[in-house]
Amino acid sequence: MTDVSSQGSRPGDDRRLLTDRQGHPVYDNQNQRTVGARGPATLENYHFLEKISHFDRERIPERVVHARGTTSFGYFESYGMWGDEPIDRYTRAKLFQGRGKRTDVAVRFSTVIGGRDSSETARDPRGFAVKFYTEDGNWDLVGNDLAVFFIRDAVKFPDVIHALKPDPVTFRQDPNRIFDFMSQTPESMHMLVNLFSPRGIPADYRHMQGFGVNTYKWVNAEGRTHLVKYTWMPRQGVRSMTEEDAANIQATDLGHATRDLREAIDREEYPEWELLVQMMSDDEHPELDFDPLDDTKTWPEQDFPPKPVGRMVLNRNVSNQFLENEQIAFGTGVLVDGLDFSDDKMLVGRTFSYSDTQRYRVGPNYLQLPVNQAKNAAVRTNQQGGMMAYAVDDTGDNPHVNYEPSITGGLREAQYPTPDEQGPVITGRVTRKRIPRTNDYKQAGQRFRLMEDWERDDLVKNFVANLSQCDRAIQERMVWHCLLAEDELGLRVGEGLGITPQDVAHLEPLQSQTLTDEDRARLANLG
Ligand code: HEM
Repeated sequence: MTDVSSQGSRPGDDRRLLTDRQGHPVYDNQNQRTVGARGPATLENYHFLEKISHFDRERIPERVVHARGTTSFGYFESYGMWGDEPIDRYTRAKLFQGRGKRTDVAVRFSTVIGGRDSSETARDPRGFAVKFYTEDGNWDLVGNDLAVFFIRDAVKFPDVIHALKPDPVTFRQDPNRIFDFMSQTPESMHMLVNLFSPRGIPADYRHMQGFGVNTYKWVNAEGRTHLVKYTWMPRQGVRSMTEEDAANIQATDLGHATRDLREAIDREEYPEWELLVQMMSDDEHPELDFDPLDDTKTWPEQDFPPKPVGRMVLNRNVSNQFLENEQIAFGTGVLVDGLDFSDDKMLVGRTFSYSDTQRYRVGPNYLQLPVNQAKNAAVRTNQQGGMMAYAVDDTGDNPHVNYEPSITGGLREAQYPTPDEQGPVITGRVTRKRIPRTNDYKQAGQRFRLMEDWERDDLVKNFVANLSQCDRAIQERMVWHCLLAEDELGLRVGEGLGITPQDVAHLEPLQSQTLTDEDRARLANLG
């Protein structure tokens, strides 16, 4: 290898020499090659053409959601326990075994709706995605800062995102479009009550919780399964902002949350979160008034106490935004042995969507990029080629055998750790039906009642401010939903909009919803 680093150095200047990507020294980075000093330019000007054409391709498509974000690195340290029980009773996932066991992590925090350079003070869920580089390969826990979501079936995801994103004609994020969709989607009430409260604008990334939102499973060494939900609790405390706080910050800084996190790590004030897990037996739980696979619901803590399983510390910033923040790729399909999917209808859709978008957004070999590699596990596949492949995965002892099975070498399959059958027996006909226990209002009302006075005031104010920009029919339907969730909420939002319960008493339930007996009783009281 010829090292051009010292060629032509000026005395006293020991900086290394600029080259192009072919390794050629660049002799003039200020002037194009031209015929005479004043032009015209020549076409064989390799350095100039390489430089400009690479620049033309500097951006990859931004994420279709969660485009603005920031990534940090650190470790997860296991307690070896689920509360006061040994964790291996419930999961055999290696990263959780043994007190003090450490696993490298990468965490990307994000906003959802805005583009790559948008404001971090937006009223918007925040992404909280964690990649664990475990010895069994990578595990991604792709969560948000709010415990629930707008919808419970993945088929509605493009619609909810279109409603929340700017108008395709005016390019304005428009409350009329947002609440048009939400008013026809009653399962969104629980999320809306959270999002329009102060929780909808976290103070920054260090002071927010994280939730897996969807229901997953744990599998133990005997193949026994349990349903689980994950929560990250910040040791720094939870802090939120009002609309006014947010406006003040946004006036001078669009990226305050990224800056706050980066600067804290630079100061060696490493932020820390504890991971808590709620658990229930792996069945339908007919005794509950909600479905444990419904991501618009939380699991009541008194019945399903969240128990600590470990802590996470972030202690390193990205060395380059593009390599480690833009190209990092998370997905709900990325699980390790001992962790599994549930039949949550959002989770299955998400699991397809993430790697699909990453093949488009980053390229088919996105898993070869250092930040995405399973760096603490061996990767041996027969996958080959594709755009931008820069290495061949280890195919075993015979480079000619890039297929399986073979008696001449190559790779072999692993043995299942337990018999390949687990979980309850499921029967049913193929159908398109909503789940039976939708119960869209109860937890929304409970959440409202649990808020402090100032939080309720803020929620009502934000609802009224946004709904004031909506058509009357949308306002009426939203007041109707609020009344079904909680009298005080409905009355106060209605008052702000000049709509009484009598004004909305004529509205019929939506075709897309099933009311509970309690909902019907409330409805009967409206008139
Ligand atoms: C990012 C799809 C629901 C959390 C994304 C991306 C897609 C997507 C396509 C962009 C990924 C990329 O470009 O790398 C979906 C679908 C959903 C869904 C189809 C519903 C069916 C959710 C829910 C949560 C969530 C319920 C929270 C638990 C995230 C996070 C990111 C993300 C945190 C950003 C990951 C990163 O920082 O790179 N989602 N999503 N998503 N989603 Fe979802």
